[in-house]
Amino acid sequence: MIAELDKKYLWHPFTPTDLWLAEDYRPVVIVGGEKSWLIDEQGNRYLDGNSSIWTNIHGHCNAAINGAIKLQLDKIAHSSFLGLTNDLAPILGKRLVELGANDELTRCFFSDDGATAIEAALKITYQYFEQNGQPQRKKFISLSAGYHGDTVGAMSVGHSKLFHHCYKNMLFESDEVMSPYCYRCPFNKAKPQKADARTYVQCGRECLSLVEKKFDANGDRTAAWVIEPRVQGAAGFIMHPEGYLQQSCAVAQSHGAMVILDEVMTGFGRTGELFAWQKEQVSPDLVALAKGITGGYLPLAATLVKEKLFDGFRGEVSRTFFHGHSYTGNQLGCAAALASLDLLIDADGERARKDIEAAFRAAHERFWQLTHVGDVRQEGCILAVEVVKDFATRGAFDAKLRIGARICEAAQKYGLLTRPVGDVLLLMPPYTTTKDEVNLMVGALCRAIAEVTENL
Ligand SMILES: Cc1ncc(COP(=O)(O)O)c(C=O)c1O
Repeated sequence: MIAELDKKYLWHPFTPTDLWLAEDYRPVVIVGGEKSWLIDEQGNRYLDGNSSIWTNIHGHCNAAINGAIKLQLDKIAHSSFLGLTNDLAPILGKRLVELGANDELTRCFFSDDGATAIEAALKITYQYFEQNGQPQRKKFISLSAGYHGDTVGAMSVGHSKLFHHCYKNMLFESDEVMSPYCYRCPFNKAKPQKADARTYVQCGRECLSLVEKKFDANGDRTAAWVIEPRVQGAAGFIMHPEGYLQQSCAVAQSHGAMVILDEVMTGFGRTGELFAWQKEQVSPDLVALAKGITGGYLPLAATLVKEKLFDGFRGEVSRTFFHGHSYTGNQLGCAAALASLDLLIDADGERARKDIEAAFRAAHERFWQLTHVGDVRQEGCILAVEVVKDFATRGAFDAKLRIGARICEAAQKYGLLTRPVGDVLLLMPPYTTTKDEVNLMVGALCRAIAEVTENL
């Protein structure tokens, strides 16, 4: 009944219409959640393998976050942030700034989601240069196949061929640099091995030379280097080689450009540190945060910036940042975020992340037993498995076969819900996931990979 209503009235994001509407397609209807589990209308239970599209960090129906929202709801749900403040947002701003543990990121601009956090970062940077004596800095440089959200600005720095090509003429021009994707790098001379490609890559670090070249050519006209630190999620969980983040950011900053880090997916502990940039010596000028900020409960986002950027908007009224959203600083979102941050920095929370990381490491070998696994890569609590047609040549399956999607459909039967990016399969569960639950997820994914790829 609900599925029929859905098919009749709704339109889903990133969902091929005809596949969704096919008569024999029965979508899973989620009616409940409990820690790392999702429950459908028939009472079937599934492990939430991708944290409900990378958002949930402390599990579903978390007592502390539920309690904080309920408490806030009886006071007020929302009031405007234009010319007013509230009793939670400034506390959250302070906590986020302190969590960054970077004395230079001192201001927080709230918005609604990942795309708007990036959009704000781009516009702040652009306007900062425009009104502070460097109006020639109008260019943005970012990685190929990047993904920063679906608003026009976020798409413009995205360079995702599949997602963005149709909008090409509506986007502003931005410069693209090759992603440091060791497994598929054209400069990598190493033969495939059953190991994370970053550990056996043979190259001359050409990926960094390309960044240098781009900045040598355009550095003085560049406003910012925009990058998902260490892991490019929607590009296929491309994990960058050690040092790339630090060195590429150093190149950008040596040319006077800002560094905008998109921590929308990597933030709040996913990569093993609270933020991915803390794994390398980087001093970002702006950082976009969303998804896990509220524990995955409510749409709230933040752009953290250095004081010098904020100062660049002081003075005449005309220097104001004329940008904002109706739900900026929303109290329910702030209440959820504050409760979520408490859980995040708690010693138990840290231990839980370490346990997931270790359980994932122990699982690599199980994936390597499978003929069609080409790369297994891990960054903290993020595990990505790339399946290929031919291990020896790294040859991909024909995209029309939808191998990644079919594997995830098969995994549902074994109690796992996750979504692939092409033929890259992802496990990135809430931190409530136990070692036994990681093993269940890995088992379900291995069975599904074998079932789909070995019967072709
Ligand atoms: C790195 C990154 N940036 C930005 C976004 C956009 O976030 P949202 O979907 O909340 O707008 C995403 C979404 O997946 C993302 O992974």
